[in-house]
Amino acid sequence: MKQTATAARIAETAEFPGYVRHAKLKAWVREIAQLTKPDDIYWCDGSQREYDRLCDEMVRAGTLIRLNPAKRPHSFLARSDPDDVARMEDRTFVCSRTQEHAGPNNNWVAPAEMKATLNKLFDGCMRGRTLYVIPFSMGPIGSHIAHIGIEITDSPYVAINMRIMTRMGRKVLDVLGADGLFVPCVHSVGMPLAPGQKDIGWPSNKSDKWIVHFPEEKSIWSFGSGYGGNALLGKKCFALRIASVMAREQGWFAEHKLILGIESPEGRKDYVAAAFPSACGKTNLAMLVPPAAMQGWKITTVGEDIAWIKPGKDGRLYAINPESGYFGVAPGTSTESNPNAMATLHENVIFTNVALTPDGDVWWEGMTKTPPAKLVDWQGREWTPGCGRNAAHPNARFTVAASQCPSLDPEWENPDGVPLSAFLYGGRRSEGVPLVYESFNWDSGVYAGATMGSETTAATTGKVGVVRRDPMAMLPFCGYHLGDYFNHWLQMAGRLNDPPRIFSVNWFRLSRDGKFLWPGFGENMRVLRWVIERCRGQANALQTPVGWMPRFEDLDWRGLENFSRGQFAELMSLDTALWQKELREHDALFEKLRRRLPRKLELEREMLGLSFS
Ligand code: GTP
Ligand code: SPV
Ligand code: MN
Repeated sequence: MKQTATAARIAETAEFPGYVRHAKLKAWVREIAQLTKPDDIYWCDGSQREYDRLCDEMVRAGTLIRLNPAKRPHSFLARSDPDDVARMEDRTFVCSRTQEHAGPNNNWVAPAEMKATLNKLFDGCMRGRTLYVIPFSMGPIGSHIAHIGIEITDSPYVAINMRIMTRMGRKVLDVLGADGLFVPCVHSVGMPLAPGQKDIGWPSNKSDKWIVHFPEEKSIWSFGSGYGGNALLGKKCFALRIASVMAREQGWFAEHKLILGIESPEGRKDYVAAAFPSACGKTNLAMLVPPAAMQGWKITTVGEDIAWIKPGKDGRLYAINPESGYFGVAPGTSTESNPNAMATLHENVIFTNVALTPDGDVWWEGMTKTPPAKLVDWQGREWTPGCGRNAAHPNARFTVAASQCPSLDPEWENPDGVPLSAFLYGGRRSEGVPLVYESFNWDSGVYAGATMGSETTAATTGKVGVVRRDPMAMLPFCGYHLGDYFNHWLQMAGRLNDPPRIFSVNWFRLSRDGKFLWPGFGENMRVLRWVIERCRGQANALQTPVGWMPRFEDLDWRGLENFSRGQFAELMSLDTALWQKELREHDALFEKLRRRLPRKLELEREMLGLSFS
């Protein structure tokens, strides 16, 4: 009882910094404090001093391990609870006014019922903890494409991650002013502390996790998890689920896409946005280092996970990266597969769920060919090669500022965005889907994106390696009915003079003996070159039932001379039986979305069906 009285007093009397001028924001923070009953309220200013202090406190509390400053300056390791390691799609809800609006692609509960549930969950959930107020901007501060959010959280780990992933702190409140619009985001690890109770390294709620969106009022509530997209609410919850709803209302796109620049030897530059599902290669492609033999070709990085895309006055599409950091997959990242990522990770990094070396550095599967002789694994247990366990969790991640990336594009913070010449869609497909093809036009490209499939990965909880349809890599992220989403894509064509061309790619096709047919990674530059030369009207192609494909002689093979015509033919083949199966799966997806599926896509499906009948 005494504690409740104290908490209520804190909510009412806590002093807020003088620079907070927004009356509604202040009232909302007090209201959430009344409900959650923290011991203290703290407004993040976003300074380096604040970041360092929070890190020091977390090292003392056992949440962070400071890495060896000689090996990895200013860097830390966090180990999550073993049950809190990835996004949980089955615990993620979009509570639109009606279930029809949320669509079959989202879990739905009626808003009033969900609010009753949340009110119970959040009542007193921050007892014994500090409530952090985190003002953040998605997109360069003040950009006409950017939007502001305020996250309330009881996790200092979230606060330091948000400082890297977003533009965060006092400067955001200056832009928000006294009455600017913001998306309210409430997060709690869902583990209140009784008086005298000692905290643990990674607090979370073992039995109850909820990631909830209210698309009409544009608010976010997340309870019970401290990991990634569940807790850093600017990312998937705001920049994709809520922003996709805003984008449809306002005539733009919020997409699960990387953005990269391609410069050809004569210095001409084009930008491309590419959608691959979680852990399917966005970060890798965005930071690609071209093969040495392709002299003069250069790739630059604008974003590696999310793109906000708006039509400009000239009828082209312009994209910004709403984030300012990378929350990237660690396993598989090496100086061979992604040298730019490795260089980015040199210092000032928060690692989560990777292994610790005896000399205080980090390691993960795939970082080096031979693992160290001894490690401490992601759960803090002794690890030796061949012990039968992973040293790092397959969804272990790094958090690091984009500004440290050597391939960062000079225009990456341009408030107007960069103009897009092409969209790429791709998943993990071990069979049937060729390395690359170009759709005939906008509608057939939207069809290709809408029907893309991918084998599931460790980026989310649940079964790994089963093919599921993941339209435009947005299945877990579209905040409304996918049928309406496809319609939004089709409609946009009418507003564009010069729509980007649309391509499908697949780096993951396997040979009959289970090996990758395509070397991938840096070699993907050969595909990007063909893509951009198609956009410039400089490359030839062969017409096929699915679209335009490069012939062997249309690709640049310098430096990869041992890749044979036979291998290429296998990589590009269109097997009729496999495509008939593929088309049946497109039908099954469309059947689920039937009530709101654009007729145009059914027609595309019918035409493709004729080609393979
Ligand atoms: P999220 O951050 O989850 O959205 O994922 P992402 O799309 O950024 O994934 P990321 O680039 O981190 O993908 C990592 C996985 O894809 C690793 O297992 C890589 O080895 C694999 N990968 C990336 N590019 C290629 C490629 O060209 N070929 C093959 N075979 N694997 C690749
Ligand atoms: C994804 O799963 O697509 C991610 C990681 O980018 S998380 O931020 O955890 O959603
Ligand atoms: Mn992602």
